[in-house]
Amino acid sequence: MANYELSPLPYDYDALEPHVSEQVLTWHHDTHHQGYVNGWNAAEETLEANREEGDFSASAGAIGDVTHNGSGHILHDLFWQSMSPEGGDEPEGDLRARIEEDFGSYEAWEGEFRAAASAAGGWALLVYDSHSEQLRNVVVDKHDQGALWGSHPILSLDVWEHSYYYDYGPDRGDFVDNFFEVVDWEEPAARYADLVEKFE
Ligand SMILES: [Fe+2]
Repeated sequence: MANYELSPLPYDYDALEPHVSEQVLTWHHDTHHQGYVNGWNAAEETLEANREEGDFSASAGAIGDVTHNGSGHILHDLFWQSMSPEGGDEPEGDLRARIEEDFGSYEAWEGEFRAAASAAGGWALLVYDSHSEQLRNVVVDKHDQGALWGSHPILSLDVWEHSYYYDYGPDRGDFVDNFFEVVDWEEPAARYADLVEKFE
């Protein structure tokens, strides 16, 4: 029986102030993220019940719900880990070198990532594409539309309106500027190292 659970934030709700308000982080984690965890569990239960009953009339919808809610849970987990009160620096070490190799420069990566964040209807992601063995930026609508098969997110930026509207109104660019004030590369660097170890 599937039973996904919402992990606590890796810092206090007010830890990212003034860049992300305590109110937004509370709603975002406790209500929105919790909703995707609940939705994933419910969809898995539907699939399991359908298999037991041999009635698959609701299964295709539930499969779509797994993709939507599961992607929402996975990307929110990464989003919380992509920020910290100690953040705001640029990447260093092997990940920095790979960004420079695959994008030409850190500045080119950041410019492209900001463009992705501006255009997305869901998320801007820095991913490791295991097929091509390279880093890429990906523009995601909702939580899953625009995904590239074989890609593994290592840095995520949530640009759903629930992520910034209360703090910044329609000025998404202001929110993205503030994301870069708290961006934390420790988890992305660790994920990148694991992926290189696995695929290269
Ligand atoms: Fe979100």
